[in-house]
Amino acid sequence: MDSIIVQGNGPVSGEIPISGAKNAALTLMPATLLTDEPVILTNVPRLSDIKTTNELLISLGTKISMEEDGQKITLTTQEITSHLAHYDIVRKMRASILVLGPMIARHGIAAVSLPGGCAIGARPVDIHLKGLEALGVELDLRNGYVHARAPKGLKGAIYELPFASVGATENLLMAASLATGTTVLKNVAREPEIVDLADLLRSMGANINGDGSSVITIEGVTSLHGTSHEVVTDRIELGTYMMAPLIAGGKIELLGGKRKILESFCQKLEEAGAEITESERGLIVARKNAHIRAVDVITEPYPGFPTDLQAQMMALLCTADGKSVLNETIFENRFMHAPELVRMGANIEVQGGTATVTGVKNLRGAPVMATDLRASVSLILAGLAAKGETRVARVYHLDRGYEKVVSKFRAIGANIERLKE
Ligand code: EPZ
Repeated sequence: MDSIIVQGNGPVSGEIPISGAKNAALTLMPATLLTDEPVILTNVPRLSDIKTTNELLISLGTKISMEEDGQKITLTTQEITSHLAHYDIVRKMRASILVLGPMIARHGIAAVSLPGGCAIGARPVDIHLKGLEALGVELDLRNGYVHARAPKGLKGAIYELPFASVGATENLLMAASLATGTTVLKNVAREPEIVDLADLLRSMGANINGDGSSVITIEGVTSLHGTSHEVVTDRIELGTYMMAPLIAGGKIELLGGKRKILESFCQKLEEAGAEITESERGLIVARKNAHIRAVDVITEPYPGFPTDLQAQMMALLCTADGKSVLNETIFENRFMHAPELVRMGANIEVQGGTATVTGVKNLRGAPVMATDLRASVSLILAGLAAKGETRVARVYHLDRGYEKVVSKFRAIGANIERLKE
């Protein structure tokens, strides 16, 4: 398993292009199952999760062609030749559950392996399943698979989600697009990736209103057609690299970055002492003073502070002036980066979903372990500012969500290399 070595190297400067959003692409690709015509996706990030999704869709009958080194993908499912999403693929990536909605809507039958939990939590899919049942899907859970049938097709319904689940919103939005009649989904997720999915579905002929708010109304149509769609900018990658000048000092420009997809995050960074300026090409980020101020953070569904940026924020607050309290409300086990940061000299106390970070003067490089995608990048960020060498093991987690991570950090002057082990 590869490792990444980071040497603390002082202030950063330079520019980083921001890629297309992983968490948009992972729902846009299954959405192409809803039509028998070609769908072209551009600005697709080159990530291992995209490869896994390609593998899954091909196993269901999709023909895939790639151009521009994988940034442009054409997906055509003239016919679904298998309705089984196999455990061997699903266990590699939980987002595989997102083929369930489109498959049952297009094909009337699906068997999808239940995704296991992962490092950050149990990750149940009960809201996905209850919502599909509301649309008339008959479900049978046996030997680790969800067996779904809709012999009479899907019927529009009113369904209120018990929690604004991103994945459940996406599955139900895709399924309802081909249901007969009107569907009203309440208490839905409002993330920009949901709006991007609705934009794709509308360009395929779906009739959707309200995406981005808590209530989405879908007038089902009988079929959808092909289209071409550009994947939205990755706001989590953007937020991750915004941390670099705040942790290490200096100033960088993030090409393609837009403040409006990260407003509450930007406000929290400014409270901590960041200077964020919008330029024609994106966002310019610098640290106002020599030290970051301690701030309190609560993760919430969009438009609140994103849980996917909590680990990166914790790394920043390790050397802030004072005590910060981070409250993780979305996942039950998303502080695994804390003990690794403590190995680097951080002062962090974790009690259930609350972490108290008392700033220290500086961190020291150490061998640390990546545990999940966002935790691994928070250790690299900490390594930028630490004195000495930080060696992050198990960086395959990074390849799932950060395209060209070493070259992007190098572009701003980081002393970083990847060791093949
Ligand atoms: C999406 O996961 C993202 N993944 C996650 O990003 C992100 O952290 C999360 O949304 C929240 O923003 C993708 O988009 C591929 P949820 P998802 O359903 O859809 C509970 C990353 O780092 N829940 O909103 O799985 C669940 O256990 C990843 O890129 C149920 O109880 O998130 C969790 O506690 C990590 N029942 C909470 O809701 C359900 O049926 C949020 O889950 C579904 C979810």
